[in-house]
Amino acid sequence: MSFEPLTLTPELHTYLLAHSTPPDAVVAELIAETRAALPGNATMQVGPEQAAFLRLLTSVMGVRRAVEVGTFTGLSSLSIARGLADGGRLTCFDVSEQFTDVARRYWKRAGVDDRIELRIGPAADRLAELPAEPHLDLAFIDADKEGYVTYWQELVPRVRPGGLLLVDNVLWSGRVLDPQGGSDQAVAAFNDVALADDRVELVILPIADGLTMARKLAG
Ligand SMILES: C[S@@+](CC[C@H](N)C(=O)[O-])C[C@H]1O[C@@H](n2cnc3c(N)ncnc32)[C@H](O)[C@@H]1O
Repeated sequence: MSFEPLTLTPELHTYLLAHSTPPDAVVAELIAETRAALPGNATMQVGPEQAAFLRLLTSVMGVRRAVEVGTFTGLSSLSIARGLADGGRLTCFDVSEQFTDVARRYWKRAGVDDRIELRIGPAADRLAELPAEPHLDLAFIDADKEGYVTYWQELVPRVRPGGLLLVDNVLWSGRVLDPQGGSDQAVAAFNDVALADDRVELVILPIADGLTMARKLAG
């Protein structure tokens, strides 16, 4: 039996948020501060449901080694860091001191700053500094869309078999159906590259702006 996929109306989205574990005070304040201080950029932040999902997934996977590309003011990294197993570590990459100064404050407030290392600089260069062997349990990509294929190619070999890669904004507000500008083309091209990659199996989850969840295969 097939059925029409669900259209997530604003009302249904509000309902979904209201029936998921609510953000705690730290997350609520981080969202509020980002919206107030950086109104032109606040939509870059992952949604509250994604934050909850990242924390839950990190936790159920028992993640000990994680990488994030694109940290901004820190909501996704805070969520991953909170889900890490004891002794777990998250390495974050971003180009902006301004945005990540906010992240550092909230990591400290949440008591997870000792689990996170932040590396400032273009991720295309800095990712190559990571050990080459497959040591990562989880990688999250959420930076400039033009860099997605490069970040993917740097990270797939570094994720252990059975580990996960998560990639945000892969539906790009629906523009992947008729890509026009540079970022549209970049996201659409990334989706084609990921699909053709026989090192992973993947599914696109229709959460927020679309989230690819890819599992590294053995061999
Ligand atoms: C969509 S935001 C990340 C949102 C973040 N995951 C969150 O939950 O708040 C994208 C981030 O990528 C960073 N960025 C842009 N170009 C980059 C590059 N070449 N290398 C590393 N980070 C980059 C930006 O500074 C920005 O903070």
